[in-house]
Amino acid sequence: MVDHSELDFATRAIHAGYDAMTEQGALTPPIHMTSTFCFDSVEQGAARFTGEASGYVYSRLSNPTVAILEQRLASLEGAEAAVATASGMGAISSALWTLLSPGDQVLADKTLYGCTFSLLEHGLRKFGIEVVYADFTQLDAVAAAITKATRVVYFETPANPNMRLVDIKALSEAVRSRSENARIIVDNTYCTPALQQPLALGADLVVHSATKYLGGHGDLIAGVIAGSQQDMDDIRGFGLKDMTGAVMSPMTAFLVMRGLKTLALRMERHSQNALTIARFLQAHPAVESVYYPGLENSPDFALAQRQMALPGGMLAFELVGGYSAGARFMNRLSMIKRAVSLGDAETLCQHPASMTHSTYTEQERASHGITDGLVRLSVGLEGCADIQADLAQALD
Ligand SMILES: Cc1ncc(COP(=O)(O)O)c(C=O)c1O
Repeated sequence: MVDHSELDFATRAIHAGYDAMTEQGALTPPIHMTSTFCFDSVEQGAARFTGEASGYVYSRLSNPTVAILEQRLASLEGAEAAVATASGMGAISSALWTLLSPGDQVLADKTLYGCTFSLLEHGLRKFGIEVVYADFTQLDAVAAAITKATRVVYFETPANPNMRLVDIKALSEAVRSRSENARIIVDNTYCTPALQQPLALGADLVVHSATKYLGGHGDLIAGVIAGSQQDMDDIRGFGLKDMTGAVMSPMTAFLVMRGLKTLALRMERHSQNALTIARFLQAHPAVESVYYPGLENSPDFALAQRQMALPGGMLAFELVGGYSAGARFMNRLSMIKRAVSLGDAETLCQHPASMTHSTYTEQERASHGITDGLVRLSVGLEGCADIQADLAQALD
């Protein structure tokens, strides 16, 4: 196998983890659609089960096509290893089921994707895990919330849906100074490793909804976890294999790899379009506020410059007139689709309070920084003038 480790990010997104000559010269990795793998002998089968011999056993444990994707993603995140999963929630739940036990504490940022919030609040809590929230933009508050029981410190940056940024490096240092046991997990879905590398900034694990920019074409559901070899072995062998069973199909792995080939290019274009749209929205009289870290007057601009290669394709905004103005605006969109999910070629617009974050109660949304008037936009890859024209006619 060629050593890809020194190659450029865009090159690794295309080549890492695969040697065509091991697959009869096939340019793209074959899709190994098989549930199980045959053993030469009983002894070989037994040795594979104990781990004494390498080799495949059963596709819930590992699969050759999925393994190529895992190596590629590990390379892109700068991780020792990665584990691919059936969905982003499969990644998050497999990791948390592995790292947490009853009596442990999860310390999470106050703004989280709705189903992640539900997993913590309605799932893990039920099994005796303490869930505590803090505003992760306030390092003192985070440090004060850490106890001996803290095993996981969890956040998104930018946070879904309100675009709050967390300083990964400063937060990691603050956590390390208070705890040797806590794993810092960053949901890197909004940025992808093309724009932000949490492990290099001090985090222990990265999780993704690969449904979004990594896949990039709105045609699959997938997830990934990246981190140390030991953590990935533990998660694969327990959280994924026995607790969630949320394994990725080889067909999905193939499609994610197809998406990854253009990841670097797409993230540049998403960011370029989003900055133009954010500036347009900011100047429009019907818009009350715009949340986008690439805007010079954003409170997160300096942090974004330090921690993100580009500000990304996601933004959020509020209209003058709050929820009812937002609903009227959304109903008038024409080319832009009213749909949840993000990171696709198509520009997608959704209303977090009634859609992706409806797992929060009204009171929870208020205390977790998710306003009812907020509109979320995933700026796509269409011609930017067309995106802007559709927004303009709906706002007017
Ligand atoms: C930030 C973030 N994390 C995790 C998820 C869950 O991913 P999936 O839908 O692939 O399970 C989502 C889905 O929208 C998300 O936006």
